[in-house]
Amino acid sequence: MIDVLIVGGGGAGLRAAVAVAETDPALKVAVVSKVYPMRSHTVSAEGGAAGVIAPGDTLDEHCYDTISGGDWLCDQDAVEAFVAEAPKELIQLEHWGCPWSRESDGRVAVRPFGGMKKMRTWYAADKTGFHLLHTLFQTTLKYQDIIRYDEWYVTKLLVDDGRVHGVVATEIRTGRIETIPARTVILATGGCGRVFPFTTNAAVKTGDGMALAYREGAPLKDMEFVQYHPTGLPFTGILITEAARAEGGWLINKDGYRYLQDYDLGKPTPTPRLRSMELGPRDRLSQAFVHEQRQGRTVDTPYGPVVYLDLRHLGEAKIDARIPFVRELCRSYQNLDPATDLIPVRPVVHYMMGGVHTDLHGATPIAGLYAAGETACVSINGANRLGSNSLPEILVFGRRAGIAAAAFAKEHREAEPPAVRSQGEDERRRLERAREGGRPRNGRGERIADLRERMQHTLEGAAGIYRTGDVLAKAVDTLAELRERAEEARMEDSSTAFNTELINLLELRSMLEIAQTIAACALNREESRGAHQRTDFSARDDAAFLAHSLVHRAPDGTPSVGLLPVTITRWPPGERVYGRD
Ligand code: FUM
Repeated sequence: MIDVLIVGGGGAGLRAAVAVAETDPALKVAVVSKVYPMRSHTVSAEGGAAGVIAPGDTLDEHCYDTISGGDWLCDQDAVEAFVAEAPKELIQLEHWGCPWSRESDGRVAVRPFGGMKKMRTWYAADKTGFHLLHTLFQTTLKYQDIIRYDEWYVTKLLVDDGRVHGVVATEIRTGRIETIPARTVILATGGCGRVFPFTTNAAVKTGDGMALAYREGAPLKDMEFVQYHPTGLPFTGILITEAARAEGGWLINKDGYRYLQDYDLGKPTPTPRLRSMELGPRDRLSQAFVHEQRQGRTVDTPYGPVVYLDLRHLGEAKIDARIPFVRELCRSYQNLDPATDLIPVRPVVHYMMGGVHTDLHGATPIAGLYAAGETACVSINGANRLGSNSLPEILVFGRRAGIAAAAFAKEHREAEPPAVRSQGEDERRRLERAREGGRPRNGRGERIADLRERMQHTLEGAAGIYRTGDVLAKAVDTLAELRERAEEARMEDSSTAFNTELINLLELRSMLEIAQTIAACALNREESRGAHQRTDFSARDDAAFLAHSLVHRAPDGTPSVGLLPVTITRWPPGERVYGRD
């Protein structure tokens, strides 16, 4: 039997795999991933990874920036653990071969990043995620006993009597369905940006791990907090990294005016500064965009209203040295050169602050089930994650989850209960039925793509940068109805080899569950905090809502939302201040 089965081959999953292998080489580890690990979304992270290393910076300052950036919704014990371990993880990556960019004297280089008041973002040019994932992947290859299920899709967690016993998964290439028994399971499938129509997220980010846990009774936490990154390319949603502003880029509106100076984020400076207004936190910058749009100061394009990112004054040499990928992306996908042209950008869904509720070791309320990375909510990101905290998060909490799961697997050696086999057989029958045409069969029912589009636009309309109660309430109903309709969706391909239509259907059903939790949590939170801005409740309300949202799946399948206190250790709630020294 597998001791630790990891679902997801991105940064969190691979870091967990290495941690288990290092804890006890006798433990049997498997990584199940719906794509080859090097195609995981971690590869697209660009700007960098935060960790205190520069002279004059302190762990407490990184904690404070993270907590105030998260509008005091972070659990401060989790933040303290994260901040303390982040630099160790980044150094560990260096030892495993990660090519961090260096200063001319050989020291690791750090750059400023949004909402961080000190320079602490390590980077590998602007392909940090690519190098980080590569480093982890090649490190897993040292451990030849790590079993890989590449291009397998997990459809169900096997849970009996409050304890996980493995998964059911299907091999995409052949359609083979297998029950894989395991003593522990770590969910590391990333976020669920694809529930929205316009996102930086890869097509694989469909919230699978969140939905697997939620269906088996594990609660999700803080699902209403959806991060918009202020600078996505308007046609594709491709990320133009915050590093472009860290290197001195400006955001200008249709009049060529650096509009952020009007939003209490600081004053314009000709050269990049640590606390320059372009490096305000993402929630504030995305909200400023909406105000500019309402004032008629954005530019209409076929792909929505845009403002411009201006890098022209940086010059070709700096762009090529520090942010070469920005230039490559602009040339390939926008047909422009940032050395000479303005880059049109608009806010784009980028990251979920919420996820599967875990403790500091990644443990969920289901015994033996762990979660790490964007799938999980520990929570260090609160109501608004700071850019460059997510890469160290996957390292710190991937490792922690790996160590905790290894310990659990060593202590629990009993055989799997018979109920688990029958659950596996039921799941096999369900998948075969779905593949053979669903209900009703043969060409009736709605198209998967139509239902997906309806879901995405419903959620964008209700749970975008600004929200109101009546629109959210309607979205809750619409999403419930769409979830029922997805049970009847049309399947046209009943073949077994590479049946991506079946995978799309299963992903859609997962996304609908998750979309419902986002809308329900946003409706329940009658205040404005971080990335959750309610026009009908425009102030932060610490008396009622200094608390996490915790959402369970009720027996009838609807989301049931409650609150859980936030852990405050040393930083009582205060005002978020930016742009002032
Ligand atoms: O802009 C960026 O490079 C994104 C970084 C992040 O989300 O941490």
